[in-house]
Amino acid sequence: MKVAVIGGNGQLGRDVNSAFAAEGHEVTALTHQDLEISSLESVRTLFAAVRPEAVVNTAAFHHVEKCEAEPGLAFAINGMGARNIALVTAETGATLLHISTDYVFDGQKGTPYVEEDLPAPLNVYGNTKLSGEFFVRSTNPRHFVVRTSAIYGESPCRAKGGLNFVELMLKLSKEKTELRVVDDEFVSPTPTAQIAKQLVALGQSSDYGLYHATTEGSCSWFEFAAAIFELTNTRIRLEPARPGEFPAKVPRPKYSVLENQALKSKSLNVFTHWKAGLENYLARRAQTATLISA
Ligand SMILES: NC(=O)c1ccc[n+]([C@@H]2O[C@H](COP(=O)([O-])OP(=O)(O)OC[C@H]3O[C@@H](n4cnc5c(N)ncnc54)[C@H](OP(=O)(O)O)[C@@H]3O)[C@@H](O)[C@H]2O)c1
Repeated sequence: MKVAVIGGNGQLGRDVNSAFAAEGHEVTALTHQDLEISSLESVRTLFAAVRPEAVVNTAAFHHVEKCEAEPGLAFAINGMGARNIALVTAETGATLLHISTDYVFDGQKGTPYVEEDLPAPLNVYGNTKLSGEFFVRSTNPRHFVVRTSAIYGESPCRAKGGLNFVELMLKLSKEKTELRVVDDEFVSPTPTAQIAKQLVALGQSSDYGLYHATTEGSCSWFEFAAAIFELTNTRIRLEPARPGEFPAKVPRPKYSVLENQALKSKSLNVFTHWKAGLENYLARRAQTATLISA
């Protein structure tokens, strides 16, 4: 299958390229230099040249504070950009795998969100990603809308300036003797390698629809940091942040845990528990460090 990956040099995109290529698919990694998704013309011209049978859209304007400051631009990319890709893939009969987010929910539920739960985004980022979901679902019947959460991968996130949460914690542990991390925001930290594997499994099926796609279980950011330090034998004093110590500039859900109900009901779920995902990430990281120092 000819697969085009939009955002092909991003944190998730790079793992998606490798995962499809490993299964023998012909992958074209598309960068922002190749196309501008907010322009229908740009998407149409490029797809006419590449002629993909499946498109994975990982591209987004996903810096939450910047989205709040520039709602028009956020809608142009996250909403209209998704619509443009859906329109062109629908015209050509290509399948669209579109990445969305746990931030479509307000976090009030207190138990894991399933696909049928009503979204109620708290901020511009979540609202514009939700509009993108609706455009995809109403425009191209061959769609997979895949909501994920708190992602981290071996390649840096381009929008957030390099370090993922794991790398940030390990860097700070070398610079400080004490760290304070929020313990009132709950997520399912999800490695990009597992999302990529899940996208391949979906892309090879015809079970179109809306999917939650995160690791099993959940933790606060404080618990995630504690696991990172425990698994790497890092000695540091880790404390929960005091209430109001790190005030959020933009409202975010306090509890955005997703249940992979649809994946499980179709026996398609590939995700491990979040801690096993972290162990795997750290093992690969250690292996790479050994290879570099050898
Ligand atoms: N970060 C999280 O915890 C999280 C949680 C849930 C869902 N997500 C979703 O996960 C996806 C992937 O995130 P990521 O960490 O891989 O992001 P990333 O590293 O910032 O990669 C995004 C890619 O999209 C490209 N891009 C951005 N705007 C574009 C546009 N207008 N036209 C064409 N290409 C454009 C970027 O290119 P340039 O850098 O050159 O602009 C980059 O290659 C996003 O859809 C995001 O909403 C993220």
